[in-house]
Amino acid sequence: MKNIAIFASGTGTNAENIIKYFSTKNSARVILVLSNKSHAPVLERAAKFNIETGFFDRHQFYDTEEVVNLLLKKKTDLIVLAGFLWLVPDNILTLFRGRILNIHPALLPSYGGKGMYGDRVHKAVIAAGEEESGITVHYVNEVYDSGDIIFQARCKVYPDDDIHSLAERVHSLEYEHYPAVIERFVGEM
Ligand code: GAR
Repeated sequence: MKNIAIFASGTGTNAENIIKYFSTKNSARVILVLSNKSHAPVLERAAKFNIETGFFDRHQFYDTEEVVNLLLKKKTDLIVLAGFLWLVPDNILTLFRGRILNIHPALLPSYGGKGMYGDRVHKAVIAAGEEESGITVHYVNEVYDSGDIIFQARCKVYPDDDIHSLAERVHSLEYEHYPAVIERFVGEM
């Protein structure tokens, strides 16, 4: 049984989906959900499933060993980012190199990088007149959205799409695929 820690900054629908998925599996379970925002809805969602939650500020994350120590204490095998907006610091990258995954709501390497998250991504995709978007699961390194790609899935962008309709289609792809990609990854650890 592998232990998954989730980092998330916001709503947490992916985090909840991953928690639910693994609650019936023997391969892995979510043991910790951490956020950089003390009032992020993701923390309430996780608490409902009796999962330990916590938050950290910039100082704790970048200048101390607090988060690393907590991850070690919880015997974390894998870190999953689900709508997490900060770069992961070196101490965590070093310890968990190759064991940190992120999901991005577009087909990287397009529409990634600093400041490209959530609805901003969908807005840029629509503004560029793309006929296709999708999701990318990739390894996390020290540069936003630039780690090796593990998995992509595609969806159409229709001429009458707005940010919300496209976000909904992309979210559906995330719910369908992210837990299964994590499960395959865990199976190879
Ligand atoms: C998801 O669509 C995820 O792909 C995206 O944030 C959303 C979080 O939704 N992540 C990024 O944009 C990272 N660059 P959620 O909080 O409902 O899971």
